[in-house]
Amino acid sequence: MEKKPAYPQTGVASTCRSYEEYERMFGIEEEKLRGQKVLDVAGGASSFTAALRARGIDAYAADPFYAGDREVTIAAAKREIDTSSAKLAAMAHIYDWSYYGSPERHRALREASLAAFAAHFTSEDGADRYASAGLPDLPFADDSFALAVCSHFLFLYAGQFGEDFHLAALRELLRVTKPGGEIRVYPLVTLAWEPVLYLDRLLRLLEKDAAARLVTCNLPFVPSESRTLVLVKKGGIRGQDKRL
Ligand SMILES: C[S@@+](CC[C@H](N)C(=O)[O-])C[C@H]1O[C@@H](n2cnc3c(N)ncnc32)[C@H](O)[C@@H]1O
Repeated sequence: MEKKPAYPQTGVASTCRSYEEYERMFGIEEEKLRGQKVLDVAGGASSFTAALRARGIDAYAADPFYAGDREVTIAAAKREIDTSSAKLAAMAHIYDWSYYGSPERHRALREASLAAFAAHFTSEDGADRYASAGLPDLPFADDSFALAVCSHFLFLYAGQFGEDFHLAALRELLRVTKPGGEIRVYPLVTLAWEPVLYLDRLLRLLEKDAAARLVTCNLPFVPSESRTLVLVKKGGIRGQDKRL
């Protein structure tokens, strides 16, 4: 099969996917999140946290991108839409457009998502919901979240962040997730659309603390396998099995 060109990227981009894209990547079921705490790690300028807050859910985001003046952060996210739209247009033939429709519609969806993020990020409600923090050190207490998601950072940037970083990052996500809670990560390929070869080893190292499964992702786009990692933190079922 013809090798697809890698997505050209220096450093880590701060993109702004929408709630609907997160719904598809992570199989979000709003009703199951009611009364629970949710975390978007490497949230960038995504509108996921804003949309969850609009639905009354106790949602937070963490990203080093949130440091400093909030208007400067929003301006940087706007520039990234220009940059990424130009890259996508140049490589449009490699992607599956069945969800987005076209590069133009993809851009329009990103602009709408950024507008929702910006409104919440600069609102009173948003003041304490966006933590300027990065993996593998999150400023949250142990066992805080029922769901922690990470879109387009872990594994995608494996060329810049190695195996040890990924292990420490997943351990930190497990620390802040409550027993029985879930971590969901998408995608599991690099910017060159290659699977991360140490994923199985990481899952084995985490086996004692988390049960893993790989789920087919419902967001057609990338020219590669499209699976979401679901890690369920162990320890929440103590006492249910009366034989133990
Ligand atoms: C491609 S964006 C993804 C944004 C959003 N999740 C989305 O899907 O549109 C990757 C994000 O990872 C953030 N990032 C970089 N280093 C990080 C770290 N050590 N921990 C958490 N996030 C990090 C970047 O600031 C950037 O906003």
